[in-house]
Amino acid sequence: MDWMERERKFILQTYTRQEVVIERGEGCYVYDVNGKKYLDLVAGIATVSIGHCNPQLVERLKKQLEKLIHVSNLYYTIPQIELAEKLHEITGMDKFFFCNSGTEAVEAALKFARKATERKKFISFTGDFHGRTMGSLSVTHKEKFRKPFEPLISPVEFAKFNNAEDLEKKVDDETAAVIIELIQGEAGVYPAKKEFVEVLDELREKHEFLLIVDEVQTGFGRTGRWFAKEIYGLEPDMMTMAKAMGSGVPIGCCALKEDVAEKIQAGDHGSTFGGNPIACTAALATVDVIEKEKLVENSARVGEYFTERLREHFENVAGVGLMIGFDVNNAPEFVRKCLENGLLVNNTSENRIRLVPPLIITEREVDEAMEIMTK
Ligand SMILES: Cc1ncc(COP(=O)(O)O)c(C=O)c1O
Repeated sequence: MDWMERERKFILQTYTRQEVVIERGEGCYVYDVNGKKYLDLVAGIATVSIGHCNPQLVERLKKQLEKLIHVSNLYYTIPQIELAEKLHEITGMDKFFFCNSGTEAVEAALKFARKATERKKFISFTGDFHGRTMGSLSVTHKEKFRKPFEPLISPVEFAKFNNAEDLEKKVDDETAAVIIELIQGEAGVYPAKKEFVEVLDELREKHEFLLIVDEVQTGFGRTGRWFAKEIYGLEPDMMTMAKAMGSGVPIGCCALKEDVAEKIQAGDHGSTFGGNPIACTAALATVDVIEKEKLVENSARVGEYFTERLREHFENVAGVGLMIGFDVNNAPEFVRKCLENGLLVNNTSENRIRLVPPLIITEREVDEAMEIMTK
């Protein structure tokens, strides 16, 4: 029996996988069980930011594995404290709650928003994706994901993305928080307009709701900035992070400003694994490599080059750093053909391709990808 048959036998079929069994990875490349090499423009869905099995990450993880793996949050552990200090430096946020994924970071933010404001209502946007657990699903727009699981948490309203007038109608003094993806990722890479975000910021002042910026996909250099909020000059009340944070090792985080954090008490939220020494060491190593190798700058420069090259051949190309989307006629077929030719890409709909390669990608590797995609 081959690996794919074995997978189907005991693994719940919630995923439609590509026909490939990946065995190892190095830099921007992965290799399947037959030794075939693929250039990876998916990077574990925008996670493997410093490249597959980055040697510095592996080395630091090995050392930590030999020292301490897990003790829970009943005790103080050093990597968690060091990571919080580092995140304060790069995010400008004040307090950090650690968890294990993006959806958990959003769950935490929603709970903290209700506790801090003593209000109930959430506003999200058409096209937004925030996760698959009951709270984060409640602020995720796609009907197909939501419908079978209703009733979800309420009240939640979806304002039209990039439509200030509609947003103005929907927010009020009952609104606990507005949650937004500044660049919608799962929808296919659609950035918010600066004027729209300015109105959102003004409305926050007027109605005193909290602003949660979901940086799960955009964070840690993906957009050519450390965080997408910098592009908009925004200072959110809370910020969610995950994906690229541990370069493939599961970790998530909800960051808070001090005035929200001071309303949260012991027992309000928790996670057994959240902030464990292995995950935090991975995040510390990731941030270190991003800084030392100037990967935020690389993301901006190579992202621009990639976007320009794509514009010569494809329609509706949108690129912010190394978060890139474009249209094709038949996206699932395009993904399959790329795979056959040694390239991993991902489609977010029937006609939209999303590229989120490792931040270490070079112009030469972009040329290699372009050759395959244009073929
Ligand atoms: C913006 C955003 N928020 C939240 C999530 C959920 O993250 P996770 O899959 O780690 O739960 C995702 C995942 O794609 C995302 O893109």
